[in-house]
Amino acid sequence: MTSFRWDPELIARYNINGPRYTSYPTALALTSPFAHDRVISALAADDRTLSVYIHLPFCHKLCYYCGCNKVITRHQGKADTYLDALENEMKLYKPLLRGRRLGPLHLGGGTPTFLTEEQLTRLMDMLREHLGLVANGEHEISIEIDPRSCSLEKLKHLRTLGFNRVSYGVQDFDQTVQIAINRVQDDEMIETLVQKSREFGFESINLDLIYGLPHQHPESFQRSLDKVVALNPDRISLFSYAHLPARFAAQRKLDKGALPSPEMKLQLLEMGIRTFTAAGYQFIGMDHFARADDELAKVQREGKLQRNFQGYTTHGSDALLGLGVSSISQINGVIWQNEKDLPDYYQAIEANKLPVVKGVGLTHDDRIRADLIAEVICHFKLDIKKFESKWSLTFNQYFAESFPRLAPFVEDGLVLLNERELVVTELGRLWVRSICSTFDAYLLDGQQSYSKVV
Ligand SMILES: C[S@@+](CC[C@H](N)C(=O)[O-])C[C@H]1O[C@@H](n2cnc3c(N)ncnc32)[C@H](O)[C@@H]1O
Ligand code: SF4
Repeated sequence: MTSFRWDPELIARYNINGPRYTSYPTALALTSPFAHDRVISALAADDRTLSVYIHLPFCHKLCYYCGCNKVITRHQGKADTYLDALENEMKLYKPLLRGRRLGPLHLGGGTPTFLTEEQLTRLMDMLREHLGLVANGEHEISIEIDPRSCSLEKLKHLRTLGFNRVSYGVQDFDQTVQIAINRVQDDEMIETLVQKSREFGFESINLDLIYGLPHQHPESFQRSLDKVVALNPDRISLFSYAHLPARFAAQRKLDKGALPSPEMKLQLLEMGIRTFTAAGYQFIGMDHFARADDELAKVQREGKLQRNFQGYTTHGSDALLGLGVSSISQINGVIWQNEKDLPDYYQAIEANKLPVVKGVGLTHDDRIRADLIAEVICHFKLDIKKFESKWSLTFNQYFAESFPRLAPFVEDGLVLLNERELVVTELGRLWVRSICSTFDAYLLDGQQSYSKVV
């Protein structure tokens, strides 16, 4: 990444509220009620290896910036009740998955390492018993870890259970920032966990950072970035702080006056991109970096990168089963989401019903736009001729409505467009969410529900 333009006008024009396009249509397009028959037929019509995502919502302490679906509690027993419900959900899916190969597993949250070692063992036993998912090293088995909730014993235990990838929430190493966001964690703890993760044989380590938090400024942020580079993780997520105080009450506790301006936020992002690329990381796009020899970087170079609800992925964009509160599944052109609140999720499970609250079946038009957006967001270009023959359409005609919205990006040098291809330039990569949104047929309805794109 070489060229940046610190043009406030450019920022004002393109820093819109926009989706992250982990799916198209996005979760906002899901509607309720959604007939469970559609889940059943989507599963029956698809025989690919299924990725599994499990949401574990509990955390010990509230981070004020947090936009995740979480439940703050000190009661460890709550996780037992939750595991009971998850087990019942697995039993409901069991007959629908007969003979199906289950592959990669990801535990997200909330904080999956809120669970004790015994609870984690129980979860993996349940997956084996009810869904036949065995963590034998064949697939990626990954987990999100809050460093404050993972002792070295627990980390070792995770490895014994078959986990081979870990992702640590760092956010920022700076103490002033940590105090402001109510998440104080010392550097040494993270260094030790990273070092031990390697020693114990985890194949991949990711660190999560956020730019745009209160009190972040270039000097201290550079120190944090340098610390991250020194830890040498395989992947780095550098998330744009999504400030949605109307939706997440705790964000109102943050001092608004201490939040960096949009210009400074962009500067922090630029520093991240410069520091990580100079250290040998490939800028995958949006918020992600991977070592050049990492699988994610390799598949992007091969043109095979995909995107699903967990972000960029090396495997399947369209065969993901989500279990647990608020989880989203996408299988064979059907997307559905579980109940978002714990009491509703429990109530559905107790009634012996799939806890699905809403969903959507992709139309032909959705599939065309989903393919285009995935291609642009993963590879920053679209071979128009190939795309036209794949979908039997004429690009200029089919997307005629998008052209006026795309024109300013072309004029500003963020997109190159000719008859053969659409290319997002290096400068345009920062605005890829905004560029994709020009092809989004739903956006005008729900734009304000999304966070700023950078
Ligand atoms: C589920 S948490 C990761 C695991 C664990 N709970 C932790 O905090 O370490 C997922 C990640 O989402 C990111 N995140 C949470 N709220 C965010 C927000 N409002 N804006 C941007 N990123 C956010 C953080 O980087 C966090 O590490
Ligand atoms: S950032 Fe992680 S630990 Fe903090 S509240 Fe959110 S999910 Fe919980």
